[in-house]
Amino acid sequence: MIPLLSRKITGSVMDRLPALKVVANYAVGFDNVDVAGAAARQIVVTNTPDVLTDATADLTWALLLAASRRMREGMDLATSGVWEGWSPGQLLGMELRDKTLGILGAGRIGRAVAARAPGFGMKVMYWDRDASSEIEASVGAVRCNTLGQLLKGADVVSVHLPLTEQTRGLLGTRELRRMRAGSVLVNTARGELVRTPALVEALRKGPLAAAGLDVYEAEPQVPAELRGLPNAILLPHLGSATREARRGMWRVAAENVRRVLAGEPPLTPV
Ligand code: DGY
Repeated sequence: MIPLLSRKITGSVMDRLPALKVVANYAVGFDNVDVAGAAARQIVVTNTPDVLTDATADLTWALLLAASRRMREGMDLATSGVWEGWSPGQLLGMELRDKTLGILGAGRIGRAVAARAPGFGMKVMYWDRDASSEIEASVGAVRCNTLGQLLKGADVVSVHLPLTEQTRGLLGTRELRRMRAGSVLVNTARGELVRTPALVEALRKGPLAAAGLDVYEAEPQVPAELRGLPNAILLPHLGSATREARRGMWRVAAENVRRVLAGEPPLTPV
């Protein structure tokens, strides 16, 4: 089976498919699959890492730039037919040079997002369960000992953690209130990592100036409260949506299936 990330592969789904040997998830995230349940049934689970890293990191930067430069409001104004012309105080955003990018989760995508930061003159800090010598060596990222330290210290926080029972709802009211006044939150990982009501409140009343979101708690629903906020830049889960990445994902998923059915070890087991 090659499921999409929107398809929940539960124990009962697996029980209805007694000949199932491999769940080759068409995504790097595999929170839609009951991995323990698969292991108990001797079903192999695989994902599609690496091939979508750059596509997702690029899209993260698109959201980061769009949020920090108020592009939704700018596009609305430019297309409204009532723009009255250039003015010095119009839609002022945040300049990135000398600001700090906080990476939440220093896996492949988090590191690729960090790697693009020096081009914009940004410093990088990160928070992860494990220290990452790679992110520290490549961009001089400073590791935060606590999540609070990262939230307080970053001008832009970008979320790249996997969704697990430990990370679900990680950013709620208390955490978002700790972020810097005028800061930006970007989420291209999973919507369930951030509590929507807390995010809406932080966008309405501060401290957030803006958010760039590619993912939502109950996709494909995009909460009406977010849709109504001009400082929320919203995309429909496009992280890996390049022709190159999607071709790579099919190649990896198909090769994983071929290998498992041939009795060989898969390329990218989870
Ligand atoms: C993934 O592969 O997990 C991404 O969310 C796809 O964009």
